Amino acid sequence: MANKQQDSGEKGSKTISIGLVGFGGIGKLHTVNWRNLHLYYPDLPVTLKLRGAAARTKDSADQAVQQGGFEYGTTDYQELMDDPEINLIDICTPNNLHYSIFKAALRAGKHIYCEKPLALNLEEAEEMLALSEASDRVVQLAFNYRFIPAVMRAKQLIEEGFLGEVINFRAQYFHTGYLNPNKPMSWRLDQGASGGGALVDLGSHVIDLMLYLAGPFNRVLAHTKTFIKQRPVEKGSRQNAEVMVDDHAQLMVDLVGGGVGIVEVSRVAQGTTDDLNFEIHGSKGAIKFDVMDPNWLYIYDAGDKKEPLGGENGFKQVQTMHSYPSNAIPGARSMVNAMGMHANSQYQMILAAAGLQSASPTARDGYLVQQVLDASYRSAREETWVDLPSRKGE
Ligand SMILES: NC(=O)c1ccc[n+]([C@@H]2O[C@H](COP(=O)([O-])OP(=O)(O)OC[C@H]3O[C@@H](n4cnc5c(N)ncnc54)[C@H](O)[C@@H]3O)[C@@H](O)[C@H]2O)c1
Repeated sequence: MANKQQDSGEKGSKTISIGLVGFGGIGKLHTVNWRNLHLYYPDLPVTLKLRGAAARTKDSADQAVQQGGFEYGTTDYQELMDDPEINLIDICTPNNLHYSIFKAALRAGKHIYCEKPLALNLEEAEEMLALSEASDRVVQLAFNYRFIPAVMRAKQLIEEGFLGEVINFRAQYFHTGYLNPNKPMSWRLDQGASGGGALVDLGSHVIDLMLYLAGPFNRVLAHTKTFIKQRPVEKGSRQNAEVMVDDHAQLMVDLVGGGVGIVEVSRVAQGTTDDLNFEIHGSKGAIKFDVMDPNWLYIYDAGDKKEPLGGENGFKQVQTMHSYPSNAIPGARSMVNAMGMHANSQYQMILAAAGLQSASPTARDGYLVQQVLDASYRSAREETWVDLPSRKGE
């Protein structure tokens, strides 16, 4: 592999140099965190350097230097791959570009932090998974909702058997931004650039969470709908284009473990903002989480005393707040927020790139989500249940 970096070294003496591709909404958010990660996590075992940023336009590349603090900007991401100083590529472009940037980064021997979804479709995802698993480079996916302390605590409890057997789950992610019919076309509304609509954009997050917490899916039955079928080709234009992606999607799920579930996602849900929530009910307990109320995990233990007068029976509000296990700033009693969950995800990526832990979530997790997306779209087209590749006994 060209330019393969040496990641060994004394704790604290190592530098990880970042090359970011795509300085849009999420690229900027990642940049804020990369710049401040050593302040959020004073125990960060490496020095981070914002080395280069690749953008589509020269203006955006200049912005990445002037506002983002990168040493240089370019409109050709291959320049980052050819830079021997860069050891980590952060992929923040529209979905259709993940595949080629990912392949170029692995070819150049770089670690990868890749935004969700892994790829545009299952074929690409399969190839990316194979390449990643054949490589010794660290690949981590930005399924950032896993990194909210309440979700981290839910995972611990589930692994300790708190839920018993999962009987059913309900997970939803609702936005409202696409309800305005004058919102113009963009890459997210273009099938060729996004790979799908609300199901890909929002569904990839909740599907990952339910695979992570409730277990593998056996089969899905999906229904998708496009409410606004024509949109202006660009802001203010009177010319319309046809929208080929879903605004809303509903999945019924059978779990490999025998339980059932519902996933519902929408970009046209009136009155919502960024409303991700889930509940999982098991034979011994239940958990609930709502990202609009993110400081608490709600847990129910069926073993609690029910007498007298209800005893201690009922949901308990666990103060998960900002209580990350490492020495994060702000401290554990502070409220948790969107920057904090991304920062923790990025921190875990750096620990993995520094060789201190395994990456998680990996390209395989991205691939498993892509399998569900692919099966769901097939189910919606064919109006029938679609089996997922069997993972019984995993
Ligand atoms: N994890 C999350 O919470 C989260 C949130 C938002 C977006 N995302 C994901 O991040 C990715 C980007 O989404 P976004 O909201 O930032 O989109 P965006 O449109 O705001 O930004 C994408 C940027 O990529 C740039 N770009 C396009 N082609 C490029 C190229 N060849 N080289 C370099 N840059 C190029 C665009 O100019 C734009 O600035 C998507 O995959 C999306 O699914 C994840």
